[in-house]
Amino acid sequence: MKFFLDTANIDEIKKANDMGVICGVTTNPSIIAKEGRVFEEVILEIASLVDGAISGEVKATTIDAQGMIEEGRKIAQLHKNMVVKLPTTTEGLKACKVLSSEGIKTNLTLIFNVPQAILAARAGATYVSPFVGRLDDISMNGIDLIKDISTIFKIHNIDAKIISASVRNATHVIECAKAGADLATVPYSVIEQMMKHPLTDQGIEKFQKDYRAVFGE
Ligand code: G3P
Repeated sequence: MKFFLDTANIDEIKKANDMGVICGVTTNPSIIAKEGRVFEEVILEIASLVDGAISGEVKATTIDAQGMIEEGRKIAQLHKNMVVKLPTTTEGLKACKVLSSEGIKTNLTLIFNVPQAILAARAGATYVSPFVGRLDDISMNGIDLIKDISTIFKIHNIDAKIISASVRNATHVIECAKAGADLATVPYSVIEQMMKHPLTDQGIEKFQKDYRAVFGE
């Protein structure tokens, strides 16, 4: 399983990118709004830093297919690595069909059940993004959704890549990987959680202590 970073925060993107652990970035309207910056500016800055797929979503207020298609084309023109993120609605699927037929990569978001994932894939989506954490939040099982989509995509040779989204912790990452997700898009805090182990910290401390005792600094 590979990783996208789910943020538009430049400092976090630089840190994760420098570590060599991400192959792209995903954004959504809430993430862009959080940074308080102009969409095109922040997207271009991200694209200049990360050599990989960058998902930019159509405006949250654009709800008709024609509007999404026009915006999607503009987003795709921003940079060669752009992926147009669309909501999984009837209008989003129509937009996905048109944009995909033009060779534009798409990421269908806000997926909460298997039928939505299958329809998104059939409409030509490059990526489907089922939301794990938000399902867990309402006492449903987000990981089971990843397992089901992954099983069905394999049986039917469906090419769309599964991005586990709304990933909240390192345990989600492990479970999504076991469930067959192609990618997980994670906030920087999850990368930090994944890296941390008290025995690693203690080990470094002991190596330093033992080394200094014999060799000094
Ligand atoms: O970008 C989509 C998704 O990852 C958002 O996650 O934490 O807002 O549910 P969250």
